[in-house]
Amino acid sequence: MDLLSILIRLLSTGLAFFLPDLLLYGAVKKAWNSRGWKIYLISNLVLFGIVFLSSFLLRESTLILQRIQLYFFGLFVAILFAKVFTGLLLLVELFIRFIYSLFTKKKRKSEDAEAKTLISRRQFIAKGAILTGLLPMTGIIYGMAKGRFRFTLHEVDIAISNLPPAFDGFTITQLSDLHIGSFDHSTMHELADMVQEVNALGSDAIFFTGDIVNSRADEMDGWYELFRTFHAETKLSILGNHDYGDYVNWPDEAAKERNLDQVKAIHGKLGFQLLLNERTVIEKDGQQLHIIGIENWGKGDFPKFGDLGKAAAGLTADDCMILLSHDPSFWDAHVLDSPFQPELTLSGHTHGFQMGIETPAFRFSPSQWVYRQWAGLYAEGRQQIYVNRGLGTVGYPGRLGIWPEITKIRLIRE
Ligand SMILES: [Fe+2]
Repeated sequence: MDLLSILIRLLSTGLAFFLPDLLLYGAVKKAWNSRGWKIYLISNLVLFGIVFLSSFLLRESTLILQRIQLYFFGLFVAILFAKVFTGLLLLVELFIRFIYSLFTKKKRKSEDAEAKTLISRRQFIAKGAILTGLLPMTGIIYGMAKGRFRFTLHEVDIAISNLPPAFDGFTITQLSDLHIGSFDHSTMHELADMVQEVNALGSDAIFFTGDIVNSRADEMDGWYELFRTFHAETKLSILGNHDYGDYVNWPDEAAKERNLDQVKAIHGKLGFQLLLNERTVIEKDGQQLHIIGIENWGKGDFPKFGDLGKAAAGLTADDCMILLSHDPSFWDAHVLDSPFQPELTLSGHTHGFQMGIETPAFRFSPSQWVYRQWAGLYAEGRQQIYVNRGLGTVGYPGRLGIWPEITKIRLIRE
């Protein structure tokens, strides 16, 4: 890495870290004496140093360094949230004080006692805002400690007009974005509960829609025994953008290719049939349901290996097919206007940003600013897409509001 990129990284991390402090500066100074302010500044500088240094570990290809980096990143997110939240509260207070001062300026100058009351009130508000700012920080830490294990079942009936009668009521459990490298073996118990929950659903098929690892095939070491126990008559899977090993440094191109081969081999070892721009057929009473699995295709800088034309060659819009595509942006770009017209596409990838609010009446996640389809079921004409929120994490090692998902889909003949 050259000096310029180190400087750019130093500057951007520094800005993200200290910009909210410009707002907080006055509040922290007001709320505590000068010693308190110094402690705040020193601890901030230490944490900034750690986050900055650990940002160099991100692309290093040893698992332990990646994990350390993730935890520091989580801490950074937690503190940033607290600062931004407190900053916003202080902005509101500043605005109210400004309006108030417009009406009381003269009076305040003349009355000393009242000015003193005002100072202590400001100090009280500053302390209150800082303490309130700790609330979202608690949420972020909860998301790392507990939220990422809140595996949540979403059950959905999907009507398909050309579904063969034999498949009316056919059940699929969709899993996605395991990112096994984001779990360490101490969390085996929580993941074993998840596997048990999936098996208890007793679905006819399990489809896994990509990102089995963060980057490296050896992330799966120690997990084979558990994930081999996923039980269903049909187990199919595809690759996601993370499975190509693009996000770590490899000694050479051959090492990267070897890793990709090993990632592909994981699926077979777990009893899943990996579909790489190809399809398979599930037969029931002589009737057929075609499952098409494409390689990753994502808008922007993501790998673009997905080829629906190749995978579905020979099929027509009359054939009943389900498409597995890791990235939902492929649906808008290449599925809606394709000659194949699969009535159902299953995707993952967005993780629903791992953060947001979901209630029956209202939902929000920053994910919706990036993806038109970011979680749940969407329809356009005869075509539908279901986007699974994923099991694991990437970036922020937690989940808050957008919990890890197990999907049970029941196909209904329309
Ligand atoms: Fe993912």
